Amino acid sequence: MEKYVIHGGKVLNGSVTVSGAKNAAVAIIPAVVLCDEPCIIENVPMIRDIEILIKILSEMGAEIEFLDKNTVKLDCTKIHTTSCSYEYTSKMRASYYILGAMLSKYGQADIALPGGCNLGNRPMDLHIKGFEKLGATVEIKGGKIIARAEALKGNNVFLDTVSVGATINIMLAAVKAEGLTVIENAAKEPHIVDVANFLNSMGANVKGAGTDVIRIKGVEKLKATHYSVIPDQIEAGTYMVMAAATGGDVTVKNVIPKHMEPITAKLREMNVGVEINGDAIRIFKKGPLNKANVKTMPYPGFPTDMQPLIVTLLSLANGVSTVIENVWDSRFKYTEELKKMGAKISINGNVAIVEGVEALYGSPVLATDLRAGAAMLVAGLVAEGKTEIMDIYHIDRGYEKVVDKIEALGGTIRRISI
Ligand code: EPU
Repeated sequence: MEKYVIHGGKVLNGSVTVSGAKNAAVAIIPAVVLCDEPCIIENVPMIRDIEILIKILSEMGAEIEFLDKNTVKLDCTKIHTTSCSYEYTSKMRASYYILGAMLSKYGQADIALPGGCNLGNRPMDLHIKGFEKLGATVEIKGGKIIARAEALKGNNVFLDTVSVGATINIMLAAVKAEGLTVIENAAKEPHIVDVANFLNSMGANVKGAGTDVIRIKGVEKLKATHYSVIPDQIEAGTYMVMAAATGGDVTVKNVIPKHMEPITAKLREMNVGVEINGDAIRIFKKGPLNKANVKTMPYPGFPTDMQPLIVTLLSLANGVSTVIENVWDSRFKYTEELKKMGAKISINGNVAIVEGVEALYGSPVLATDLRAGAAMLVAGLVAEGKTEIMDIYHIDRGYEKVVDKIEALGGTIRRISI
């Protein structure tokens, strides 16, 4: 086991380059299964979730070669099984994309019920409803989801709740289905558009991604492509919050500023300096931090994955802020950890009341999930004294080279074995 040890109180300065988007890459890599030729994917973040996906696909017969540290060549044409190892698929949420891709390509798949962050109830009913609408039968037994289809046929699928995973999974299943599939009330996150662009670059016919109606006309064959994953909106937001919390001056490079708007707008409201220069965003101190109210919403609303980070920043602002979590029913567990450091937060259902404090104080804390872990990094960097973060495997799932990036900005962090 390992932990992070942070000696807080340093002001972060300099620049940091954002990696490829985790939540796009974890869908694009399984989507290569659909292709009848090898594909090259660039800007793949080297994080634990990607390593697991690569292990799953290799075990199934895919040939995988790293052309450089973030570029991978995947040849999924020799896959010899539609059943995935329980050991790996149960460890991460996005393994569910293998289901949509395999079902589309081979008419069958079975995977373990996916794992991932514990954010409360994480059902898959909408994924299953979508597959069934396309003509598949789906069963859950022995801890597995088993999907079968003679031939998938396009249909209209209305998503009762806006779901990133269901939107992408139904898109994957529909790519080779006969005729037209229309997904209504689709999610609009930047990674949905990225996955659709990737599919289209292989010859798929997906239109409307980024709006709430996506139309997919099935095609027979998909051809080789060379594609680059978009930058990670949440990793960028994490470094922006680190800069704002420590009162530093940091340029976050390789971002798509449009994707960052819900975050930059909130930071500006909090009196953080935000300057956009092409594909870089400079974050700098303007004065004391102001309170703000936040409601998490599907894109283009304020992202739920930034909620633990913005709560940490609001803990250091003047006044009392209200944060409403509208996406997940249990995403405030980490506030108990922040409270150990001196934050004043009270939770009532899906509402957090955050009373700003003068300072946070270093303490042993847990990374209770991925973004909670990122929030602990921010809190540790700003806190007086030493913070030790345990259960850091959560952070490994989504942040590439986090120690190197923080050290390059002047933070003091070490990863040590325990
Ligand atoms: N939902 C259903 N039924 C379903 C699927 C979802 O009711 O079949 C509900 C969920 O319970 C939730 C809401 O719909 O209340 C949204 O869930 P969504 O399906 O959008 O989440 P997801 O696809 O499982 C992805 C990200 C999460 C991110 C959410 C919301 C990946 C691999 N994960 O999860 O990212 O929080 O979208 O934006 O893309 C993270 O990166 O830390 C992370 C947790």
